[in-house]
Amino acid sequence: MNSIDFLSLPKAEIHIHLEGCFGTETIVELARENGVALPRSEERLLDFNGLADFLEFLDFICGLSRSRDQLAKSAYAFAERMAASGVGYADLIVNPTHWSGWKGNLAGLIDGLDAGLSAAEQDGLPNVGLCISLLRQQTASEAVDIVEELLRIKHPRVVALSVDGNEAAAGRTGPKFAEAFQLAGRGGLKRTAHAGESSGAEGVRDAIFLLGADRIDHGVRAIEDDELVGILADRQIALGVCPTSNLTLGLYKDMGEHPIDRLRRAGVPVSINTDDPALLRLDLPTEYARTAEPFGWDRETVRGVAATSIKASFAPEELKTKLLGDLAAW
Ligand code: ADE
Ligand code: ZN
Repeated sequence: MNSIDFLSLPKAEIHIHLEGCFGTETIVELARENGVALPRSEERLLDFNGLADFLEFLDFICGLSRSRDQLAKSAYAFAERMAASGVGYADLIVNPTHWSGWKGNLAGLIDGLDAGLSAAEQDGLPNVGLCISLLRQQTASEAVDIVEELLRIKHPRVVALSVDGNEAAAGRTGPKFAEAFQLAGRGGLKRTAHAGESSGAEGVRDAIFLLGADRIDHGVRAIEDDELVGILADRQIALGVCPTSNLTLGLYKDMGEHPIDRLRRAGVPVSINTDDPALLRLDLPTEYARTAEPFGWDRETVRGVAATSIKASFAPEELKTKLLGDLAAW
C-alpha cells in the first residue's frame, strides 16, 4: 500500500467549493485589507461546530472578496492548488449567495473568476469548469431567475448547475428546485446536487428523479436504502464522496463506519474529493491515502476510483480521453 503514489495518480477533483479554499493566512489577510474583525481568534478560526456553523463562516470569508482582482487571484490560487495535488481537471462549485459583494452581479462574479482561471490555463495550470450553485434556502423563483440568467450569460466557463447548503435545515427541497434544474438541463448545463449528506436517502432519490442529477455530491446516505443503491449502480450515477468532510462534520465516527467502500462494492461509481480542503486542512492525495489504506485498496481499485472521477467530471471529452490515457499508463 505504501508504494502507491497518490500525487502522480491522474485524477479529477469533482466536488470542491471555492468557498472552502481559503486558508487561515488568506482569511486574515483579506479581513485586514477590508478592515473587518475576525469572528473568533486566529488560532480557533477553523474550529467549526457542525455544518450550520461551517456554512455561516463561508459567508464571512467570501464577503471579503470585493474586487475583480481578488476574485481572479482566488481562482488562480485554486488552479495552483489543483496542480499541486496532481489534478488534471476540476469542477469547481461556487455559490453566489456566499459572495455578498457580488449580490445582483452574477455576470461580474463569473467574469472575475474566469479571468483568474484563464490566466492559470495560459500558465499551464489545470483546466477548471464552474458549477454555479443554488443555496437550499433559496425560493423556487430565485432559483429559476438564476438559471435564466446563466442561460442568458452563456459563459463557456460555466459547465453545470449545482445546489448545496444545509438540507437538514431547509427540509425537503427537491420539488422546489425541479423547475430550475429542468430549465438548466434543457439549456445544455450539466446538473449536480448535494444530497445524502444532511438529508438521508430520500434526498438522493429527489436529486435523481426530480432534479435529473448527472452526479450527486456526497450521496453517501444512499447506503440507508438498498433499492436506491441498486438504482445508482444500474444507472451508473457517480457520487462525489468527501470522506474527511463527512467525518469532520459529524456524519460518521471514523473511516471504518464510512460507507464509501460498501457503495463501491455494490457497483456504485464513487470518486474521492476534498469538499472544502483549506478549511478542513486537507489535500486530495492525502484524502486518497486516508481512504484507500483502511479499506486495503490495491493499485487497481485506486485506478478505478480515479477513472470514475475523470469519467464523471464535466471536462471536455478530449481532455477526459487524455486523462484516462494517462491513468492507464500510470
Ligand atoms: N458548501 C460548502 N461545503 C458544503 C457542504 N459540505 N455541504 C453543503 N454545502 C456546502
Ligand atoms: Zn460540498
